[in-house]
Amino acid sequence: MIQWVRQQFCPDLAVDLGTANTRVAVAGEGIALDEPTVVALRHGTRQVLGRGTAVGRLAKQMLGRTPEGVTAVRPIRSGVVTDFEVCEAMLRYFFTKASRQSFGLRPRVILAVPGTATPVERRAVFNSAERAGAGEVFLLDKAFAAGLGGGLPVAEPIASMVCDLGGGTTEIAVFSLGEIVASKSLRLGGDDFDDAIADYLRRTYTLTVGPQTAERLKQELGSASPLEEELTDEVGGLDGVSNVPRKAVITSEDVREALHGPLERIVSALRSVIEKCPPEIVSDLADQGLILTGGGALLRRIDGYLADQLGIPVRAGRNPLHAVATGASVCVDHFADWKGCLESGERAA
Ligand SMILES: Nc1ncnc2c1ncn2[C@@H]1O[C@H](COP(=O)(O)OP(=O)(O)OP(=O)(O)O)[C@@H](O)[C@H]1O
Ligand SMILES: [Mg+2]
Repeated sequence: MIQWVRQQFCPDLAVDLGTANTRVAVAGEGIALDEPTVVALRHGTRQVLGRGTAVGRLAKQMLGRTPEGVTAVRPIRSGVVTDFEVCEAMLRYFFTKASRQSFGLRPRVILAVPGTATPVERRAVFNSAERAGAGEVFLLDKAFAAGLGGGLPVAEPIASMVCDLGGGTTEIAVFSLGEIVASKSLRLGGDDFDDAIADYLRRTYTLTVGPQTAERLKQELGSASPLEEELTDEVGGLDGVSNVPRKAVITSEDVREALHGPLERIVSALRSVIEKCPPEIVSDLADQGLILTGGGALLRRIDGYLADQLGIPVRAGRNPLHAVATGASVCVDHFADWKGCLESGERAA
């Protein structure tokens, strides 16, 4: 009863604090907010513009082309907090925007964190959330959340496998009977894909492009294996020799070549996880296949490419960009059932 009353006035929140995007789900209501993980500060200060509201979509528009007097900051890199103060300001804004807190109550918050996060990095997430207004804070493994939210039968006696390809991390896990039986977490994600494209253009075309242009090329031309009809796009950058603005026509073959290295690292991580599994589990995976979640699941032909490399079926999970937040929201909605999978603040110390 007390819990019911508390939920009416201050519902629990589930947060996917992503390198590129943050999603907040409200208990019983689903995802309430999905915004870029970006904050706009007054230049040379730690003051968030717009009285603390220049956060998310508005701030992302300023990244790379910040007007004078404004600095756009991404407080999460490779899935972990790199700027505590800004992360706290961002979470405070998101908590207030997503939930209706009354009577000074502080929401219970479940935050998804990457498997590679060290105890110090976990403590940073925990502290940022608490200072931003959370009451009790629990941490949830991102791969677990991705499996749960991606629609995998995680609690069934049949094994299943997920790979969440985010902006800064790759989370891989094999589930059986509600447990993770093998996993791997890499500090490699869409940001590294963008860097690889920028490096390639510098080396091949002596053209320097910004991270936003590299990301746009990845999304508009990128593919993991050849396309029936290859694509082209004209991009603007700086000539690497004369440093003057120049345009170049880039093809989908160029982008694929650039992405080859990071994709190979993902394949080898997936192989190493499969190799750790006992034969019965591997045989389940050959039937069930691999489910992809996260923004990287949207890269053209990534399913076919990984299926060829791994020899098991591969497909995108349902609503891949929201899988982690959906999984975390399952845990806030059925807290007692999933409490055993959560790490409390005390244990994160
Ligand atoms: N169509 C697409 N093709 C390739 N990559 C894409 C596409 N759409 C989005 N992405 C990439 O997906 C990444 C964002 O994915 P997502 O929102 O899952 O990351 P995140 O949860 O913020 O990061 P992380 O979980 O690693 O901390 C970005 O790097 C973005 O460029
Ligand atoms: Mg993510």
